[in-house]
Amino acid sequence: MSNESSIESTLQELRSFPPRSSADLGMAAWHVGSMEQYRQMHRRSVEDPEGFWAEVASDLHWFQPWSRVLEWRPPDVEWFVGGRTNMCYNCVDRQVAGGHGGETAIAWEGEPMPGGKPELRRLTYAELKEQTSRLANALRSMGVKKGDVVTIYMGMVPELPVAMLACARIGAAHSVIFGGFSSQAIVDRVHDAQSQVIITCDGAWRRGKVVPLKENVDTACAELDGTPAEVRHVVTVKRCGNEVAWRPGRDVWFADVVAAASDSCPCEPMDAEDMLFLLYTSGSTGKPKGIIHTTGGYMVYTYLTSKLVFNLIPDTGQLYWCTADIGWITGHSYIVYGLLPNRVPTLMYEGAPNFPGEDRFWDIIERHRVTQFYTAPTAIRAFMKWGSQHPEAHDLSSLKVLGTVGEPINPEAWMWYHKAIGGERCPIVDTWWQTETGGQLITPLPGCTPTKPGSCTLPFFGADPAIVNDQGEEQEPNKGGLLVLRKPWPGMLRGVRGDRARFISTYFSRVHDPKTGEPYYFTGDGARRDADGYFWIMGRVDDVINVSGHRLGTMEVESALVSHAGVVEAAVVGMPHDIKGTGIAAFVTLEPSFKPYDKASTDKLKDDLARHVSRLIGAIARPDMIRFTDALPKTRSGKIMRRLLRSVAAGDSNISQDTTTLEDLSVLAKLQTDEEG
Ligand code: PRX
Repeated sequence: MSNESSIESTLQELRSFPPRSSADLGMAAWHVGSMEQYRQMHRRSVEDPEGFWAEVASDLHWFQPWSRVLEWRPPDVEWFVGGRTNMCYNCVDRQVAGGHGGETAIAWEGEPMPGGKPELRRLTYAELKEQTSRLANALRSMGVKKGDVVTIYMGMVPELPVAMLACARIGAAHSVIFGGFSSQAIVDRVHDAQSQVIITCDGAWRRGKVVPLKENVDTACAELDGTPAEVRHVVTVKRCGNEVAWRPGRDVWFADVVAAASDSCPCEPMDAEDMLFLLYTSGSTGKPKGIIHTTGGYMVYTYLTSKLVFNLIPDTGQLYWCTADIGWITGHSYIVYGLLPNRVPTLMYEGAPNFPGEDRFWDIIERHRVTQFYTAPTAIRAFMKWGSQHPEAHDLSSLKVLGTVGEPINPEAWMWYHKAIGGERCPIVDTWWQTETGGQLITPLPGCTPTKPGSCTLPFFGADPAIVNDQGEEQEPNKGGLLVLRKPWPGMLRGVRGDRARFISTYFSRVHDPKTGEPYYFTGDGARRDADGYFWIMGRVDDVINVSGHRLGTMEVESALVSHAGVVEAAVVGMPHDIKGTGIAAFVTLEPSFKPYDKASTDKLKDDLARHVSRLIGAIARPDMIRFTDALPKTRSGKIMRRLLRSVAAGDSNISQDTTTLEDLSVLAKLQTDEEG
């Protein structure tokens, strides 16, 4: 960072936006309406977590009460020990039982606009109950049992939450794979989870085109055939009407099996610590980790964070919209599981933000009268680029609370969001959390926290984050360090599927309590805390890059590159990118016979490699810059010096970093003078 930009960011820190009265915003009330109340509640939540969380859990339905709230033997935690509950019951049946069966649970809008009109669907709690019961029975008839893993690879259609809830109903865990991932991602995850059933769609609409989901599933299944992870059943939702291959005996249509199944399927009482779902996420090695979330703690945590962070209040005309894909944790926690138990309708939109025009989101907000809107900084930067004329052309006055998640938001984008979307009226909740944390951990509360552009502000209830050095010692204000959590919270991960050692080494071995020696939960993020106690996330400290708010392991992209016949070695690092926040830069050394001889062949090979990565991982991993080099900068022990590559990728012209361990200085000189790719 240059001196100028650090001065600028210091100035920006001084901007602070006080909370507004609920009456001003037309909000019924704030759940937490003053900093005094926040402080008092936060103190209680960390000093008496058992009392605090027992009260929250009592809002929800339990088949059997817990005998102990918390059992913490780091790195293992149990919440609501001995309690039995069911997530689907609390999302759906509980609302029907409360007399709300006729209310909207999920509102949905498709991407295509036939004749200029959107395609709309609404599912009430009663309809959700019927649909999930039928699908649950159908899954049972395919042999799915409590504890089995069902893979879900779908577009953003209402059948996707139906599928998740149907699994939860019978105690099967789901593993949702983002529809933008390739067939190889399906192979790896199905194999790791030993999942015998896949629920998919014929296709998904994306910017007017059909993404061939069923075809990708077929390709994955072909690879798994004859292995112990052979897929037995594929259930397909007909969405786009594209032609699909069909294997009788394995393939069935979603509509057919649902119609044929009984609509009666009581929810399975699950132990609070039974697995609810697996969600794969990138780490610093090549293999994605299956993050395990369990039932009771995750349910209570997503329920409370949703309620307080978005100030959800049923029966007040709220309509909440989160623009994430359900294939990511944000969609799991803040489209489905946190929302439904709060009985505020959740809006799902199927497609792209710029289809058919760059004002699609603002059009949706205006037509549906959206009250809470949750999106990502990368999207906000794209909106900024497309221009304020788009939101200006729409009535956004229904909005009351705005949220962001996924990566640090630059103050400029924050200010644009505040003005162009929030009308300088709506509080912005910049929520820091991770796949592993299950729910938001550091975030403003809209009715009380003064916000500062670029800061995720203060800990949520039960969260005890700190900035420490490698010895676990807390850093003084504004000194950067490692972000850790010192206490367990109900939504935290319970493990990495099939890999206890990786669970411990990734999260619980880097930093320890200097007094007790007990491990802290290590987030992988670097951050600082300012003099007001506000957290400022600085980014990942490991070999993980955050592209458009989604984590990718650099190793994953490197392995994909090296699997190309022309590549000998590859190093992948993040580089600044206007829209994505971080883009992917790849430095590649080639087999001599593949070396390009002119600009055209260079471009062609770069394009081939980019497509190759897209095909193996998904478009999200496509490198933004590829540079061919004769050698990569390495230490004497042979380790690639990524920080040097990061500087080169960022276009730093005079790299002043310590190069004393660099094996061959001419490599660096060459990389710097090489033409930008
Ligand atoms: O680096 C942090 C960044 O995203 C990482 C978590 O990524 P993932 O598990 O894919 O989950 C994204 C959605 C929860 C974190 O380690 N991150 C997430 N939210 C923020 C953030 N960085 C800064 N500010 C945030 N609000």
